[in-house]
Amino acid sequence: MAQRLAAWTQHTKRSALQDMLELTSGPEYISFGLGLPNAECFPAKQLAVSANEVLLRQSDPLQYAPPAEQLKRQIQLLMRKRGVECSTSQIFLTAGAQQGINLLVRLLLDPGKAVLAEEVTYTGFLQVLEPFQPRMMTVSTDPATGIDVEQVEQVLQTEERPACMYVIPSGHNPLSYTLSREKRQKLAQLAAEYEVPIIEDDPYGFLAYEDIEIPAIKSFQSDWVFYVGSFSKILAPGLRLGWIIANEEIIEKLSIVKEATDINTATLTQQIAANFLQKDEFANHLHHLRQEYRSRRNGMLDQLEAQLGEAGSWTIPSSGLFIWVRFPESINTMELFRESITTEKVTFFPGSVFAVNPSRMASSSIRLNFSFNNHDKIEEGITRLSRLVKRHL
Ligand SMILES: Cc1ncc(COP(=O)(O)O)c(C=O)c1O
Repeated sequence: MAQRLAAWTQHTKRSALQDMLELTSGPEYISFGLGLPNAECFPAKQLAVSANEVLLRQSDPLQYAPPAEQLKRQIQLLMRKRGVECSTSQIFLTAGAQQGINLLVRLLLDPGKAVLAEEVTYTGFLQVLEPFQPRMMTVSTDPATGIDVEQVEQVLQTEERPACMYVIPSGHNPLSYTLSREKRQKLAQLAAEYEVPIIEDDPYGFLAYEDIEIPAIKSFQSDWVFYVGSFSKILAPGLRLGWIIANEEIIEKLSIVKEATDINTATLTQQIAANFLQKDEFANHLHHLRQEYRSRRNGMLDQLEAQLGEAGSWTIPSSGLFIWVRFPESINTMELFRESITTEKVTFFPGSVFAVNPSRMASSSIRLNFSFNNHDKIEEGITRLSRLVKRHL
């Protein structure tokens, strides 16, 4: 039967790493691997109140329904914080950012065409591309400063026009950088000049840990940037809610692709989220979340400094959920990972998992998540990791 599946599926396989991460989910392991939000920070009680109100007082939360207008209005207000002014008719609700990316790629990419992305990027985006087998136009990137915008310009000047560019401007997954205002402006300008749409994937845009909040790329260029937002990291991923901001003509096409995919985003969670957001508790919730994650980020940075010291170098993320740690090139972090699961029992993602093509920078680096574990676990986990790395040096 397997040989009757579509050609592109013949090359796909579950990564060995996914298997290993599943095997290592027991309590003896400390996981810095997955990008999970902290479950204690989910506003479960408030959401329970909202769910109750929605189910008992509102009409048809259990019915098929068009996108909830109240939720779009709340997103419209939220987007002002990212510097984006839009009408509710430019907001398209999705089952999370992942679906947003998927729908946009299906709308933009013809089979065999090219896509522009960083050499190290979010694996979920690469998975979306798989059925299309596009030509990958990769550009350099840097854990501190992000995508090389000059190289983007050079590639756009000299090569075939890509169907889209994919960018994660804030709290990049996995590299953790937040792109400067200047680079965002330049990317927006390039998108318009070369008529190449940007998919701006921004699930971490509301999780800034410093006082400066840099506006979304969308705020600099409305037509050529499709903004993808998500409630996963700022409310709860279990709601499966996200959104796209695009012009009305694109929204119309998106709704056709979306209908073929899942008819509509879950009515119940849309209405629960809208009810919660209308109560003005969200600002407090977000404030608390940022404080908590800032504290965990600082805790992990302190531990890296104290325990790993000269054995590695790492980013100081101003947004998002990750720290990118680089070791001397003699260390292959895939091997480090394999050893870790049998000896120190601390898990993380080896950088090579995120590399579009084999990359030295990625193969001696790891991605650490700092949101999931409490301070004690972070200390213990970094102790184990440092011991492991020092044995390898
Ligand atoms: C960069 C990026 N995009 C998209 C997603 C998917 O988010 P969602 O849960 O909203 O589908 C993630 C989740 O980790 C992510 O890191």
